[in-house]
Amino acid sequence: MMMKELKTTIGNVEIKNPLILASGILGSTYSTLNRSFHEGFGAVTTKSIGIEPREGHPNPSVLYLPEIHSVINAIGLANPGCSKFSKELQNIESDVSLIVSVFGSSPDEFISVIDCLRKVRMRTSPVAFELNLSCPHAKRFGMAVGTDPEVVEEIVKEVKTTFNIPIWVKLTPNISDITKIGEAALSGGADALVAINTIKALLIDIEAKKPILGNIRGGLSGRAIKPIGLRAIYDLFESIGPKIPLIGLGGISKWEDVVEYLLAGASAVQIGSAFHNYSSPKVLITELLNGLDSYLVREDLTIEELKGMAHG
Ligand SMILES: Cc1cc2nc3c(=O)[nH]c(=O)nc-3n(C[C@H](O)[C@H](O)[C@H](O)COP(=O)(O)O)c2cc1C
Repeated sequence: MMMKELKTTIGNVEIKNPLILASGILGSTYSTLNRSFHEGFGAVTTKSIGIEPREGHPNPSVLYLPEIHSVINAIGLANPGCSKFSKELQNIESDVSLIVSVFGSSPDEFISVIDCLRKVRMRTSPVAFELNLSCPHAKRFGMAVGTDPEVVEEIVKEVKTTFNIPIWVKLTPNISDITKIGEAALSGGADALVAINTIKALLIDIEAKKPILGNIRGGLSGRAIKPIGLRAIYDLFESIGPKIPLIGLGGISKWEDVVEYLLAGASAVQIGSAFHNYSSPKVLITELLNGLDSYLVREDLTIEELKGMAHG
């Protein structure tokens, strides 16, 4: 039985608990989005959507690495494009807290894709749009535009002045100082920062003596990257924490991981790879919520009090 209030606010957005489904996992269809929300997530994020359909990179494009409980992917932002994805959005149920993830290569392209998706007649209105400025393996997109502070600021500013809606910005860890990009997103008017996306990585097959992924390079996620995600949130909280809510992710698979991210300064967390190959998130999400709740009861703390407590 839940004893503590798990309701969480991220700026002006209120969600029923701080666990959010990350973009790219279970977020390509309305049925998995509806189901994931109803099985316990506080909010769910769509796969990143662009203006045109994209096939993505050749196979193999996603591999599970059991020895480090991690995933490497080079999907390359494969998606049906905004017009086709509209059909999924129309079927999202009215009670679902939905975050729509989008990508583009310029301010105009971000504006076009958001405009296209906002015209869809939906039963729920998205709580936020998340700008993917961080995918590490798609030419012209993602971190190709997300590692230059001026470009980040311009994209966020133009999107914010065009649409008066909550805009979350998802940052890449593939940069020497993530706080510079966080500050640029804040100056552009971002309502929250999401960190981190995957870390550039590569696999080699010793028999073929060649890289394994179709795209050669990919992005690492899952348990191996948790300390890197924690460091990103800790640094962002130290530099701009009080000014903007942070959403932490990278390698969360246990309730203790959720607590660690909140202590580092996150207001909420996202979870992706832990649900890779899951058809139903119910068991794990219930475990995470119960573990978080018991910890808050034992420590007699609220989520708000826990936030950033690891800082001196
Ligand atoms: C198969 C796969 C697909 C992904 N697709 C997207 C995507 O479309 N957009 C995005 O912003 N992040 C995408 N990500 C990154 C995740 O949202 C997340 O940032 C990353 O995996 C770290 O979290 P995790 O360790 O909990 O998976 C993807 C990750 C994986 C494993």
